[in-house]
Amino acid sequence: MDKSVNTAKVIFTPSGRRGVFPTGTPLLEAARELGVDIDSVCGGRGLCGRCQVTCSEGDFPKPGIASKHAHLSPFSVTEQKYEARKAPLQPGRRLSCQAAIRGDLLIDVPPDSQLHRQLVRKEAEQRDITLDPVVHLHYVEVREADLHQPESDMSRLLEALGRQWGFTDLSWRHAMLDNLQAALRTGAWSVTVALHQGKEIIAVWPGYKDVAYGLAIDVGSTTIAAHLCDLGTGEVISSDGMMNPQIRFGEDLMSRVSYVMLHPEGAGEMTRAVREGINRLIAQTSTTANISTGDIVSITVAGNPIMHHLLLGISPVELGTAPFALAVDTAVYVEARALDININPGGIVYILPCIAGHVGADTAAVILSEQPQAHDEVSLLIDIGTNAEIVLGNRERLLACSSPTGPAFEGAQISCGQRAAPGAIERVRIDRETLEPRIKIIGSDVWSDDPACAASGKPVTGLCGSGIIEAVAEMYLSGILGSDGVIDGSLADRTDRVVKDGRTFSYILHRGDSAISVTQNDIRQIQLAKAALYAGVKLLMDRMGIVSVDRIRLAGAFGSHIDVKLAMVLGLLPDCPLPQVASVGNAAGTGARIALLNNESREEIESVVRQIEKIETAVEARFQEYFVNAMAIPHKTDGFPNLEKVVMLPSGKSAKPDQAAARRERRRKGKS
Ligand code: FES
Repeated sequence: MDKSVNTAKVIFTPSGRRGVFPTGTPLLEAARELGVDIDSVCGGRGLCGRCQVTCSEGDFPKPGIASKHAHLSPFSVTEQKYEARKAPLQPGRRLSCQAAIRGDLLIDVPPDSQLHRQLVRKEAEQRDITLDPVVHLHYVEVREADLHQPESDMSRLLEALGRQWGFTDLSWRHAMLDNLQAALRTGAWSVTVALHQGKEIIAVWPGYKDVAYGLAIDVGSTTIAAHLCDLGTGEVISSDGMMNPQIRFGEDLMSRVSYVMLHPEGAGEMTRAVREGINRLIAQTSTTANISTGDIVSITVAGNPIMHHLLLGISPVELGTAPFALAVDTAVYVEARALDININPGGIVYILPCIAGHVGADTAAVILSEQPQAHDEVSLLIDIGTNAEIVLGNRERLLACSSPTGPAFEGAQISCGQRAAPGAIERVRIDRETLEPRIKIIGSDVWSDDPACAASGKPVTGLCGSGIIEAVAEMYLSGILGSDGVIDGSLADRTDRVVKDGRTFSYILHRGDSAISVTQNDIRQIQLAKAALYAGVKLLMDRMGIVSVDRIRLAGAFGSHIDVKLAMVLGLLPDCPLPQVASVGNAAGTGARIALLNNESREEIESVVRQIEKIETAVEARFQEYFVNAMAIPHKTDGFPNLEKVVMLPSGKSAKPDQAAARRERRRKGKS
C-alpha cells in the first residue's frame, strides 16, 4: 500500500473479518473486499437500505483499536434522502455504502443486513432456516440505445451487470425478453433484474425495485397449502389453503389413478384442475398481501408422486401398478409458464425430488424439515394418509418405504367415519368402571359431560380419524375389546352401550338423532390400517438391525391431531419414550419453504434423497408376517416397555419383546 495514503483498521462483527483500508473507502466496499456478508439491491446507490451497519464506540484493547463514530464520514445527503423517502434509520445506524472510513472502526452488521441471516422458527426443536436467497435483485443502470453503437438491449444489460456488479457469464431465460425492451425504456435505462441462483436473469422491471416474492406449495391429495414469502427477508407474508380440486375425480390417490386408467383424457383434466387450484391460491395469497403476481419469481413444490406427476402433466398410470416406476425422480426446474402457472413470466418452479414410486417429494420435504440425517439418534418419520410414508434412520443411514394403510385413518371405510371437520368426534375417553364414553367434537372446546356442551347445541356428525383411533384404543383399555380386536359381547349384560349388531357387537359412542357407533368392522379396518403401518416400520427397523427407535415425528394434518399415547396403545406406533414422540404439523410445507428460502438446501436434499435406501414393502418376504403380528392390539409379539411406564395395559394383553429381534440387535451392537 502507498505509504503516503492514510489507512485505518476496520473490523466487522459478527464475522470477525478485518483489514486495513485507505481512508475514504466506503464501508460497503471494504466489506465486499473482505467477503463480509452484507445485503444490497441498489449496488451502493443509497436506495435500498439493505446495507445498514452500526459503529461501536470505545477502546478495544484486544484488536488494539479505538473505534469512534467520528471515524466515519458525516451523515450524507444521500442518507438524508433515504430517510426522507423510506424511514429514519435506527439510532447509530449508517448506510455502509455511503459511510466512508476515516479512522479505525469496529463495525457490526446486524442480522437484518446480512444476506444469509437466520430465520428463527417458533416451533420447538426445529432448525432455523438460514436465508440464502435463490433469487436476488440487482438494480443496474444501462447505457442508452445508440445509433452509433448498435448493440442489443440484452448486450448492454449484460455489460452493465458486469461493470456495476461484477457478474460474468450470466445467462437469461427466454421468458424475461417479454419485458426487457419496455422495462428499459419505461425505467429511463435503469432496471432491476432478478438473478436466479446467481447465474441466470429470469425477470426484469423498470427502475428500482427492492422486493420479490416466492411461494412454497404443498400439493396434497386432499388439500393444497401455499405460503407466500418475501424472498429478501424470508418472512411469510400470506398463507392460504384449499381443497385439491382433483377431489371430484376421486377421493384418494388410487381412485384418481383408476380414473385415468378408465378415462385416458382424465390425466389432462386433473393436471388442469391442480394448476387452476394453484393459480387460485396465487391470486388469493397475493391479494391478501396486496402484491402483484408479477412480483412472484420463484415457487417450490412438494407433493406425493401422483400429485407430482399430474402437476407436471405426466400420466400417473405407471404409478398405479408394479413396478411403480416414476417418470423422473430427480428435482425438476421448470418455467412457471410451461406449467400455466400465473406468476412473473420468467418465474421458476422447483419441484423437490421424489424418493420412490410411493414416496414422493412431500417426504423429501419432510426430511428437509426434520433433518433425521443430522442426528446420531435414530428418528422415525411418519406421514399418515391413504398411504403412510415412513422414513427411518440417522446420520449413518436412511431408509424409506410406503405402506398401504388405506383411507381408514381419514375416516373412510368407517361406518360413521367422516373427514376432520366441525361436528366430527375427535377425542374419546371411556370410564373403566361404567364403560360410559365422553367425547369432544371438532369446533367445541368442551367435553360431552360438561353442561356447557349440551347448551351449545352443536351437532355431532361423525367420527374422524383421530376420533376412531382414540375410540378403539380406549375400548381396548376399558376391556370392551380384547387384544384380538373382538368386541366382548358378554358386556352387553353390563352396559347398554354394547349392542348386538348382526353376528357381532358394536359400541355406541353417541346417542342422538344420528347415533354414532364403533362396529366390529370399523375396528377391523383400523387394525388393518395400523398393522400395515406398523409392518412397514418393522421392515425398516429390521433392515436397519434395530428393535427400538429414539424419536418419532408425525407429519401431516392427521399426525397433528392424534393423541400419541393412545396411538401407541393401539399399536400404530412402535414403543418409544413418549416425550420423544411429537407431531410436526405440515412438515412438507415447511420443507418446501426451506427449499424456497435456502438455495443450498436444494443440493442438500437432492444428495440425501440419492442416498436413501428404498424398501418396497410389496416384495419383502417378512412384510406379511409383520403385518399379521401387528393386527393384535397393541401387538402380538412386540413389547411396549416405555408405554407401560405411563399406561396400565390390560393384564396379560401386552406381549413380550421380540426376543429374536433383540438378539439381532445385540449381535449388531457386538459387531460395531
Ligand atoms: S447498498 Fe443499497 S442503500 Fe446501501
